[in-house]
Amino acid sequence: MQVVHNKLCLSGLEAETLLREFGSPLYVYEAEVLRERFRAFQAAFPENVHLHYAMKANSNPTLLRLLQQEGAWIDAVSPLEVRLALDAGFAPERILFTGNNSAPDELDYCIAKGVPVNLGSLEALRRYGERYPGTEASVRVNPGMGAGHHSHCITGGPASKFGIYHDRVATALKIATQNRIRIIGVHSHIGTGIYAPEPMLAAMELVLQASRGFPELRFIDFGGGFGIPHRPEQTPLDLPELGRQMQERFSSFCSEYGRPLTMKLEPGRFIVGPAGILLVTTTNFTDTPDYRFVGVDSGFNHLVRPTMYGAYHHILNASRSTGPEQEVVIAGNICESGDIFSRSEEGMTRKIPEIQVGDCLALCDAGAYGMSMSSQYNTRPRPAEVLVENGQARLIRHRETYEDVIAPFNTEP
Ligand SMILES: Cc1ncc(COP(=O)(O)O)c(C=O)c1O
Repeated sequence: MQVVHNKLCLSGLEAETLLREFGSPLYVYEAEVLRERFRAFQAAFPENVHLHYAMKANSNPTLLRLLQQEGAWIDAVSPLEVRLALDAGFAPERILFTGNNSAPDELDYCIAKGVPVNLGSLEALRRYGERYPGTEASVRVNPGMGAGHHSHCITGGPASKFGIYHDRVATALKIATQNRIRIIGVHSHIGTGIYAPEPMLAAMELVLQASRGFPELRFIDFGGGFGIPHRPEQTPLDLPELGRQMQERFSSFCSEYGRPLTMKLEPGRFIVGPAGILLVTTTNFTDTPDYRFVGVDSGFNHLVRPTMYGAYHHILNASRSTGPEQEVVIAGNICESGDIFSRSEEGMTRKIPEIQVGDCLALCDAGAYGMSMSSQYNTRPRPAEVLVENGQARLIRHRETYEDVIAPFNTEP
């Protein structure tokens, strides 16, 4: 992303030109950034660490294929994610299925495809054991603590529905033994959008402690959660330093355990978040005594994070990067007053170079949990997605049409 002649460009292409060619609103992904992010993660964890890209962050098949070529593994949460990953070329054994409250047929599907399953409760382990005695599985452990950018995103601790609570691992081993299930992995994921190393390292310690209870491990998976700076002034997570500390601790654990184990991690947001941007077009202004609302042609149906979590996304005027600033509210076109893109913990206004109707605005760092959490609310179809690379743009998902919207319905009178 760079500014040329006061206009925002992505891989050398003006944002406005992309909107003219592919229509507005539009998700744009930069292939170079996606690769760089994956490689930066690999460089921070060089010691044979399996990086399972958490495809819930963004499951566009083109992006999956690109990451597959980079050497990624996959964290999948549903059978259709598994299917998408298989279709994108991932070998079954490079996928780890960590469902949540999975129905038996979801596990049946994974087993039939040769995809390893990770079980997140004693009940799931018991049922799996009865159905598949004599096989292998891993278990998700709740280390008793969590972290994340919003309470809805914390997936560890006593208020979390995820995993076998760490004080119950002896029961897990007993259930597994009764059904001749070999527990070959321990998994955990404490939350998403974590900006400091401390919670990661503290959770790691608790997971290692829980892992001691399982004698036949081959891997320990510490999940994802690695945050990205959404604000320009925010300091990024020092990933190389965190990687160094985690690997050092892991190798001392392995010596104590008596066997080398594989470390697995499941980054989603860190890899794909900064690679994506949502371009929208300004359609309207509405003034009240307190605010100027700048209306745009997209809404929380396309990027729900500001509405759902009060999550900050930096917003640029892609049509004029500099100029006198105005304090405005950037509002979507959905029929709910919570539909505000400029919302964050501090309020709902932003200072942005003066916006005119027709200007293109860019919502930055929208590659993760943007399109993948989108909906057709208000019967507004989803935007197109485009991949840019070496000055070329390629459509990687078409803009939904009326036909796409109507397809699932029975329209017979
Ligand atoms: C089990 C699991 N692993 C990995 C992730 C990815 O998290 P992030 O995108 O913060 O790296 C998630 C996301 O919620 C998850 O549920």
